[in-house]
Amino acid sequence: MSKRFYITTPIYYPSGKPHMGHAYSSIVADVFARFKRVEGYDVLFLTGTDEHGQKIQKEAKKNNKEPKKFCDELSEKFRSLTAILNLSNDDFIRTTETRHHKSVNEIWNRLVKSGDIYLDKYSGWYSVSDEAYYDKDEIEEKDGRKLSKTSGSEVEWVEEESYFFKLSAFQKNLLDHYKKNENFILPQSRKNEVISFVEKGLKDLSISRTSFSWGIPVPQNNKHVIYVWLDALTNYLSALNFPNTEDKKYKDFWPADVHIIGKDILRFHAIYWPAFLIAANLPLPKRVFGHGWILSDDKKMSKSLGNILDPIEVIKDYGIDQLRYYLIKEVSLGNDGSISMENLKNCINNDLANNYGNLCQRVFSFIKKNCGNKIPKKNKLRENDIKLIENIKNNIPKLISFIDKQNLNEYIKMVVNFSFEANKYFNDSEPWSLKAKDPERMNAILHTILEQIKNISILLNPIIPISTKKVLDTINLSDKDISIDNIKKDDIFNYNLELKNLDILFKKIENDN
Ligand code: MSP
Repeated sequence: MSKRFYITTPIYYPSGKPHMGHAYSSIVADVFARFKRVEGYDVLFLTGTDEHGQKIQKEAKKNNKEPKKFCDELSEKFRSLTAILNLSNDDFIRTTETRHHKSVNEIWNRLVKSGDIYLDKYSGWYSVSDEAYYDKDEIEEKDGRKLSKTSGSEVEWVEEESYFFKLSAFQKNLLDHYKKNENFILPQSRKNEVISFVEKGLKDLSISRTSFSWGIPVPQNNKHVIYVWLDALTNYLSALNFPNTEDKKYKDFWPADVHIIGKDILRFHAIYWPAFLIAANLPLPKRVFGHGWILSDDKKMSKSLGNILDPIEVIKDYGIDQLRYYLIKEVSLGNDGSISMENLKNCINNDLANNYGNLCQRVFSFIKKNCGNKIPKKNKLRENDIKLIENIKNNIPKLISFIDKQNLNEYIKMVVNFSFEANKYFNDSEPWSLKAKDPERMNAILHTILEQIKNISILLNPIIPISTKKVLDTINLSDKDISIDNIKKDDIFNYNLELKNLDILFKKIENDN
């Protein structure tokens, strides 16, 4: 049986243009999806748009559009962003699709059947922008406006008939689950936040609304629409053809291996979602990973703050691999991270152009000039050559474990270091000085360095897929060669073929000042 891996991004509200925060969630998930494929897993990577609820209905109205038409247009923007970000998603789900309605109806009916839903009246604070209910101790007053303390978004008082989910009854189940499954919520700091929230006691959750109509009707009472978060979370099952639990996709991929989300939506994924699933008698996802925020001027990037860095503009100016590399390398996953154009430029110049790019380019041009443009065969490697090659191979289990703990920063740090070491080895070995006096030694050095370039490119491929493919193509390796197994094997080169030409990989960015 092949090894399988199911990873998801949050589904995005198509209420405005996609911004860097959205791009970040998606790129992070994409790096994991790509790595697991390189590792030999059968991967399902899901993303999509979250299209129901009051926020979308209001936004559509503001734009004088029917909600469905409004969503069709904006969802397309998110779909085209997947191509711009070079995501390798296997599916793109929209919550306005029939497959999703079926799945949400089934979840609702399962909760009714288990006796976990009752009809009552909700009165309390609601933030349309967060689509979230808040307790009075979660609210503060600023300039006469009532705001959520955590998100800063405005709340309004709501009183309406509502179906409730007996969330309070799940406190013990949830705490037991967190205890038994140490890595269910990562990073650890987020897990502690969730546990102390749940330990304080949970209130039953309002899961339907009556004051607007843009949503999936409650099956037994179409005066109500289902609360957008119960609707949205179910997308992770809809994409597997749930409710057909005999379907191959469902059987192969549920429970999900990891939901990648931002820390602002942790409560929904780490408390509500598992409680719904327990009530529906379905297995729980293996992990919820809450990344930090991308900050601009030290504030969360958001439409309401007007400090959005447009990913599409940045990509146009600098390139997609450059942006992917920068976000993965410079933002510590799990913590908040400030980004700036200045840092992006430095990262492109120092890491990509001067390190990995420079390594590939100088080695290829040396081979072109001095070896008839062909890779020299493995021959009489010395101890330090073997040590260099073995260092990557021996670290593979460690690299896999970094990825499996979503420790992307340690992963990239180690791979970048391999690239520094390879550059240093090339400098220190001075193959140019051996052309005449010891061509055999020169060839051994070049062979060793090409092994390193191949292996580093495979390891960087999930992060910078376009550039690494160019490099591998130059040495006549194709997509099917990009695998961890091919790091373990040495000598996969075709020695009869000449190297192809490689244009500049990463252009250096001039500083404006
Ligand atoms: N629709 C819900 C998610 C439903 S999942 C079942 C939602 N959508 S969102 O469009 O508002 O946000 C989606 C994701 O983008 C969240 O993970 C959020 O954390 C992330 N980001 C939005 N702004 C962000 C930053 N400035 N920085 C990093 N990520 C942030 O919530």
